[in-house]
Amino acid sequence: MDSILVILGGSGSKIRNLEDREKYLGESLESGFVELKEGEEALNAVIKSVIVMEDAPCFNAGTGSVPNLEGVVEMDASIMRSDGLFGAVAAMKDVKNPVKVARDVAEETESLLLAGEGATRFARLMGHKEYSPLTGKMRKLYSKKEESSYYKGLGKMRRLYSLETVGAVALDRFGGMASAISTGGIMFHLPGRVGDTPIIGGGIYASELGAIAVTGHGEAIMRHVVAKTAHDFLIERDAEYTAEKVIKEIDADFGIIIIDRDGKVGIAYNTKYMSWGIKTMTYKKVQAA
Ligand code: GLY
Repeated sequence: MDSILVILGGSGSKIRNLEDREKYLGESLESGFVELKEGEEALNAVIKSVIVMEDAPCFNAGTGSVPNLEGVVEMDASIMRSDGLFGAVAAMKDVKNPVKVARDVAEETESLLLAGEGATRFARLMGHKEYSPLTGKMRKLYSKKEESSYYKGLGKMRRLYSLETVGAVALDRFGGMASAISTGGIMFHLPGRVGDTPIIGGGIYASELGAIAVTGHGEAIMRHVVAKTAHDFLIERDAEYTAEKVIKEIDADFGIIIIDRDGKVGIAYNTKYMSWGIKTMTYKKVQAA
């Protein structure tokens, strides 16, 4: 079976550095695909891809995550494999790579989702060192919020910096599939707010039918259980049809990437922009937005 990797850089605005986004999307594809080429499982590939985007400040995940209403970064992440393995963290602070902690939750605990202080404490237990993901740029933006009126300034900045989840889906040579996603959530969100990213069936899903990752407006994505809804179309249809179908039928601002069991790919969005990339043994494409 031919290996395939598809990545997602978010569906927010073009306000972040486009050149950087293009560069790191390319690096994310290379880093993840090396795993597939070396015969590693799809889960290793999607995690490697997401780590590159978490470490790049031009994406809203890990380093570069948006601050909440109190100027603090709270991050959500999850992983899911086609055999049902799932792990997630929500509203977690002071960790460099939330996606790695999500994997630890899946592999080292009997839980599916750890949140808040408990997630951070678990991360330390697993050896993830204390790290501040708040960049100078985000600190500066937060100080501007203090100057604006709540409704005017806040609303505008929210629109500019939201709808951004990074993610990846992959099919390995053995037919295994996996998905991983990570985000800092919505700009200036209420402390403790959790979006769709760590919610199984919301922003992520994977089974023997396919692997799915979603970016966009978390509350609407959760309300419509977007990833599971898309998954259920895969029982009868391929990834391409499914991606177009859910984008057309679900009333939410979002973008989606899907790989199905036959190696078909679906990429669709109804937001103005979406950053994505795809790589196979013979093909590579990056779309920075
Ligand atoms: N989709 C990311 C969020 O709303 O948190």
